[in-house]
Amino acid sequence: MPSSYADLYRRSLEDPKGFWADAAGAVHWDKPWEKVLDDSNPPFYRWFVGAECNTCYNALDRHVAGGRADQLALIYDSPITGTLRKYTYRELRDTVATFAGVLKDRGVGKGDRVIIYMPMIPEAAIAMLATARLGAIHSVVFGGFAARELAIRIEDAAPKAIVSASCGLEPGRVVAYKPLLDQAIEISSHKPDGCIILQREMEPAMLTESRDVDWEKAMASAHPADCMPVAATDPLYILYTSGTTGQPKGIVRDNGGHMVALHWSMKNIYGVNPGETYWTASDVGWVVGHSYIVYAPLLHGNTTILFEGKPVGTPDAGVFWRVIAEHDVKVLFTAPTAFRAIKQQDPNGDLVRNYDLSSLRHLFLAGERADPDTIRWAEQQLNVPVIDHWWQTETGWSICANPIGVERLPVKPGSPTVPMPGWDLQVLNDNQKEASQGEIGALVVKLPMPPSSLPNLWNAKQRFLDAYMSDYPGYYKTGDAGFIDEDGYVYVMTRTDDVINVAGHRLSTGGMEEVLADHPDVAECAVIGVADDMKGQVPLGFLVLNAGTARSADDVISEVVSMVRERIGPVAAFKSAVVVKRLPKTRSGKILRGTMQKIADDQDWSMPATIDDPAILDEIAMALHSAGYAKES
Ligand code: COA
Ligand code: AMP
Repeated sequence: MPSSYADLYRRSLEDPKGFWADAAGAVHWDKPWEKVLDDSNPPFYRWFVGAECNTCYNALDRHVAGGRADQLALIYDSPITGTLRKYTYRELRDTVATFAGVLKDRGVGKGDRVIIYMPMIPEAAIAMLATARLGAIHSVVFGGFAARELAIRIEDAAPKAIVSASCGLEPGRVVAYKPLLDQAIEISSHKPDGCIILQREMEPAMLTESRDVDWEKAMASAHPADCMPVAATDPLYILYTSGTTGQPKGIVRDNGGHMVALHWSMKNIYGVNPGETYWTASDVGWVVGHSYIVYAPLLHGNTTILFEGKPVGTPDAGVFWRVIAEHDVKVLFTAPTAFRAIKQQDPNGDLVRNYDLSSLRHLFLAGERADPDTIRWAEQQLNVPVIDHWWQTETGWSICANPIGVERLPVKPGSPTVPMPGWDLQVLNDNQKEASQGEIGALVVKLPMPPSSLPNLWNAKQRFLDAYMSDYPGYYKTGDAGFIDEDGYVYVMTRTDDVINVAGHRLSTGGMEEVLADHPDVAECAVIGVADDMKGQVPLGFLVLNAGTARSADDVISEVVSMVRERIGPVAAFKSAVVVKRLPKTRSGKILRGTMQKIADDQDWSMPATIDDPAILDEIAMALHSAGYAKES
């Protein structure tokens, strides 16, 4: 293993096949590969072609057989319900095998899809691993999405079974999942053969006869199922993520490459050893939760924590410190917004002092840009290095990070540090030429990308080509813009598309616009992301009402706010809109969202040369000012 980052990175680009074949030695293969990388059909690259493996076997059975049977695999810590439950590797393996038996009894086999719509309870991870055990494909849907979003995913993934729970818990309210599930199945033209519902005592659900079974009852009569080897290139999961329209993209993750990259990352990026406790405070509904609550820690033989709570309010801003101290956490990984929420409630870190945090070695942040203020506050309070790293649902692990297990590079606040092995990251300008040092351009990755990166989109090959591969031939377009400095440090500044990042959640403004446009009194609309002290960004709508409408602006605004919550879900955090007479557009009719955002955020902006009618921007600035934005206008 090279001892410096530079050597490691160089080798990964000069000899990717050798590099990843070495890393693959850490994983159990039922059948070895014939080719490490099949690059015969660009831009469709496949890793470990010909190999067979099972991800659940590698995450659980391998450790049970290898001496970790009695080590804790998963700790469920739920301050919101006051529950603490622990599973050893043997207990988790046995429970997962039994639940795989439940799925098998309901006809689920290799290649079938299983949708998992669950709150942050261990059964969510158990259902994921059980699906993987059978060689089936899971698709987890985040609990904060509404029935219509769930329906879109059911329609696209066509699952044989859906696994859900009667309810989830948000501070101060119970979220009844079952009515949302029923509504989603009704909307979707695809119907699952059956649903398995975990009843939670806070709000049990009425089961639908002949379609639903109770989790506990089904477990009581099921027989454990064995691991089914699949091709390394077979999908492990589909995870839907926001694109530029209301139709989400079904990111496909394969089995073999995913295991290899994730296993490699645990020691080399996060610096943890097998047996240590690793905690990602996120949700299994996001990629961060897939990779670093469930798969990577278990593949690597760590103890993972599944936390059902919030950084604040469950019960207070000291809960993260309580969990670290109580479970001997070595590494915490979360989104910057969680730290902004904690800092807002406990600016002097008084609660930090109540706990012994000596176990903690590093804090990792991702999901959105980590602002230097938050990084510095976290460093001062926790007295550990704070590492920003950058990645996407599409990649499954970090494109840029600080590889502390190899060599800890100096931290530069504002930068997620440097590209990880296999990521040939470049900045291209509008002319598709390499940008000069420090110049902002599109962040792109020269193909092929390393293992774990998406091989395709589910059922949408042409969209895969159009969205990622066409604008810069030979490169993957990340959709982010940024620059690289004189030391090779990467800075990720903004998205280049209509995706915004709200509290670390990726959302499509295009999807919200589709909802607003459906309101009968709305003639035209636009949604932008505006800066927010806690959530990083929040959506803001602009509405042009139909001429002659008798409805008041306030009524229409409150109706569109309800519509977005109803159709996309509370997670969209769409709470504000302004009514304007016209939208600013270019002469070719493109709405000038970027300029509107700069005005709202009081950033410097210049009059776009292509604007149709410059006077409209004054009207927009005034409307924003009256609504409490654009304070300096
Ligand atoms: N099920 C149902 N509703 C959910 C939900 C879920 N799983 N997750 C969030 N929601 C709801 C919230 O209750 C809230 O509803 P409200 O409008 O009625 O208040 C809404 O969706 C917005 O949620 P969120 O943006 O998370 O804001 P919040 O005010 O509830 O919490 C933070 C703010 C900072 C505490 C929270 O966003 C957080 O913990 N962020 C960490 C970021 C993270 O985990 N990112 C994942 C990628 S790493
Ligand atoms: P998601 O697919 O939900 O993980 O969101 C991915 C997007 O979040 C990226 O394309 C970035 O826009 C943003 N993002 C994630 N991590 C970072 C980071 N460390 N710095 C800046 N932006 C980030």
